[in-house]
Amino acid sequence: MGSSLVVLFVCLVFLLVSLPRVLAQQTFFDVTKYGGVGDGITENVKAFTDAWTVACQNNGGGVVLFPPGVYLLSPLVLNGKCKGPIGVQIEGTLLARVEKEYSVDIDHWITFKYVDNFVINGGGSLNGQGPSAWPYNDCKKNPHCKRLPGSLRLDYVTNARINHITSINSKNFHIGLFASHDITISSINISAPANSPNTDGIHLGLSQNIQILDAAIATGDDCISFSTGTNNVNISGVQCGPGHGISIGSLGKIVGDNVSFVDIRNCTFFGTQNGVRIKTWAPSEPGIVSHITFEQIQVDQVENPVIIDQQYCPSRTCDPEVYSRVQIEEVQFSNIWGTSITQNVVNLKCSKTTPCQKIGLNDINLTYSGREGPGQSTCSNAHVRISGRQNPPACTGKDKALG
Ligand SMILES: *[C@@H]1O[C@H](CO)[C@@H](O)[C@H](O)[C@H]1NC(C)=O
Ligand SMILES: *[C@@H]1O[C@H](CO)[C@@H](O)[C@H](O)[C@H]1NC(C)=O
Ligand SMILES: *[C@@H]1O[C@H](CO)[C@@H](O)[C@H](O)[C@H]1NC(C)=O
Ligand SMILES: *[C@@H]1O[C@H](CO)[C@@H](O)[C@H](O)[C@H]1NC(C)=O
Ligand SMILES: *[C@@H]1O[C@H](CO)[C@@H](O)[C@H](O)[C@H]1NC(C)=O
Repeated sequence: MGSSLVVLFVCLVFLLVSLPRVLAQQTFFDVTKYGGVGDGITENVKAFTDAWTVACQNNGGGVVLFPPGVYLLSPLVLNGKCKGPIGVQIEGTLLARVEKEYSVDIDHWITFKYVDNFVINGGGSLNGQGPSAWPYNDCKKNPHCKRLPGSLRLDYVTNARINHITSINSKNFHIGLFASHDITISSINISAPANSPNTDGIHLGLSQNIQILDAAIATGDDCISFSTGTNNVNISGVQCGPGHGISIGSLGKIVGDNVSFVDIRNCTFFGTQNGVRIKTWAPSEPGIVSHITFEQIQVDQVENPVIIDQQYCPSRTCDPEVYSRVQIEEVQFSNIWGTSITQNVVNLKCSKTTPCQKIGLNDINLTYSGREGPGQSTCSNAHVRISGRQNPPACTGKDKALG
């Protein structure tokens, strides 16, 4: 009798100890059990949708699994809300369709919408098959162009992590966040050729509380770009290049185009068009860019290492007398070093009607070795506070700082 009591007690203890682990264990929904085939030829939209629906409706949550293999996948939208935490573990490759003649009316390849408590991981990759579609991107010439679909899109997604994923050759943006918050993107690798159009690495719009950590991003456009309504963003350990660098903006197209509380540190830029950039349209609507820190930034053979451009108008005719109405203030450029391939190594081109306020230049060491002479730091319409060592001397280029 006594011994069976002991056995009962031991069993009870075992149950109590293991129960939380059983509850925390993820339930996997393997797409190949839902008709998915990783042969690179079979369409997997239905398998993915079916596995997602079951995982999403599973009490306690679920993870859709793509085992190793190549899964051809047409564009799809996967919706929440789910009954528990939901994940997609990609161990294989998701392969977009080749677009011979681009005509399909879709915005993105893989969209997750209204999903909370979400993880995408697995060490696998997304292949957007960009080369098949890039020739049909005429957005440089045609302002009413139909945009090609970006690869991964999160719309109204909250509390999500994207990690250990590779994205190659997206047709448009690789990863786009819209109206999403509390998102961490880490240990990811994004790549597309230097001459591929609009293949931004990560685009943030109307999103808050975002962390981007440890990423290698090689693209034909911005490494990371920010559009309106994006704040509380921390970025660190990102290697950009080739591409256009990290860009806040272009802002000012609509009223109240604001971006604030952004911290970008410990990032490197190799052979990019820009290093760290803030750009606003001219003319523009009023807006605010504030509390931005760029710190511990290394550039190597970069065209414009540090740039604020408040007269951005690449595809329109820019009137040099018309200025942006976006207020840029409280921006810190700190501990920025390396080499530039143009003479204007620091170029703060602020608005005459809305000058930049409280811009900090601290410990800048940017070298240029061209025939025209050493690098220059130019500041126009900018109230600049200078501290630390400055090479070249801060704001001594042809336009003088306002002080
Ligand atoms: C990223 O992926 C590309 C394409 O698969 C590869 O060539 C490159 O070496 C990877 N970079 C890193 C840092 O893993
Ligand atoms: C960004 O970093 C700061 C300072 O470490 C921290 O207080 C803040 O919570 C971070 N924000 C996000 C969204 O991670
Ligand atoms: C800086 O980023 C690199 C990756 O580029 C990472 O290995 C390193 O740990 C980071 N250092 C700090 C101090 O965060
Ligand atoms: C942008 O900031 C201004 C000033 O703080 C504020 O009045 C405006 O509502 C903001 N716009 C948006 C869209 O948040
Ligand atoms: C600036 O960088 C150059 C080489 O990039 C280096 O030789 C020099 O010592 C640095 N100057 C300071 C003040 O750090």
